[in-house]
Amino acid sequence: MDINRIYNEDCQEGIKRIPDASVDCIITDPPYLYLKGQKLEREFDERELFKEFKRVLQPDGFVVLFGRGTSFYRWNVILSQLGFSFKEEVIWDKSYITSPLLALLRVHETISISSLGKGSINRVKVPYIEAKCGDVASVLQDLRRMKAILHNPKSLKAVEDFLINNVASYDLDRVSGYNVSAQPGFKNEDRCAAVVRAMSDGCTERSIIRTDLYKDEKANKQGLHGDMKIGDRSCNVISSMECGMNEKSIIKIVRDHYSAIHPTQKPVRLIERLLALTTQSDDVVLDPFIGSCSTAIACVNTNRKYIGFEIDKEYYDAGIKRLNEVLCIRNE
Ligand SMILES: C[S@@+](CC[C@H](N)C(=O)[O-])C[C@H]1O[C@@H](n2cnc3c(N)ncnc32)[C@H](O)[C@@H]1O
Repeated sequence: MDINRIYNEDCQEGIKRIPDASVDCIITDPPYLYLKGQKLEREFDERELFKEFKRVLQPDGFVVLFGRGTSFYRWNVILSQLGFSFKEEVIWDKSYITSPLLALLRVHETISISSLGKGSINRVKVPYIEAKCGDVASVLQDLRRMKAILHNPKSLKAVEDFLINNVASYDLDRVSGYNVSAQPGFKNEDRCAAVVRAMSDGCTERSIIRTDLYKDEKANKQGLHGDMKIGDRSCNVISSMECGMNEKSIIKIVRDHYSAIHPTQKPVRLIERLLALTTQSDDVVLDPFIGSCSTAIACVNTNRKYIGFEIDKEYYDAGIKRLNEVLCIRNE
């Protein structure tokens, strides 16, 4: 079984060739069996496949499962019966309506995270602007808090200490490892917007380059040290702009309607954020129902290895083309 390869094959057969305890994470979006007349809706032997999940996973490996309705709850019960522990539930806020005909308009999908053994979810920081995605009220509250700093000498001092002690120790590996994609909607000519964009995406390189500030011996893992007063809300705002915000259980990412090549294609960025919670660099990730290859692209972008299966030749060909385009750009 080759690593970094997608197989045009039934995963129920293909998975049998994967060696025991050789996969770190299985992230997958199986057929939910509710879309009538769609060719992607093929039944599979759930219990047998999930037994294979258990065999191929490392002792502390994760299963990250997308799903909906009855099948989703049944799958999670089967996983529990096989000895997996439920760890968390994530809601993907799609911000668009799947079907306008439903009585209750559905704008989300559910994702469960289960683990064998003692696997624990990683603490992850999400860039400030991305984490605040569309939440204007919350950004406004932060801006008001920052404005209030000017009238509060204690907060002003705390923020000053924080900036002096921390901004210089910005950790370049952390930023580049996060692979932030450009956020739409900023006008280049707007200076305020440019500042906000720089907080999210980094600053353009300048003609004077200092490297001595990036590796400060005193910096801790997050690149933070010094006199930040924990609990000072003004500092927390500045800190989250500089270092990102803790990942939350509701992840809002708008699906790309126009360039999707598959009817249930998941955003690459969503998969990247789920992998950040459950894997490390160089881990092996399996997606047995890989469709458009979003999982493989997320692995390429974040230095994970992948194995995928897709039974349908048309989806397989389209997915491989999409993946190859990403690989070509990265190898240029
Ligand atoms: C819900 S879609 C997954 C979409 C994927 N998450 C994406 O982002 O594109 C399920 C996919 O699994 C494929 N599939 C269904 N049964 C399969 C099987 N037994 N083995 C491999 N692939 C299968 C379908 O053709 C479909 O492309």
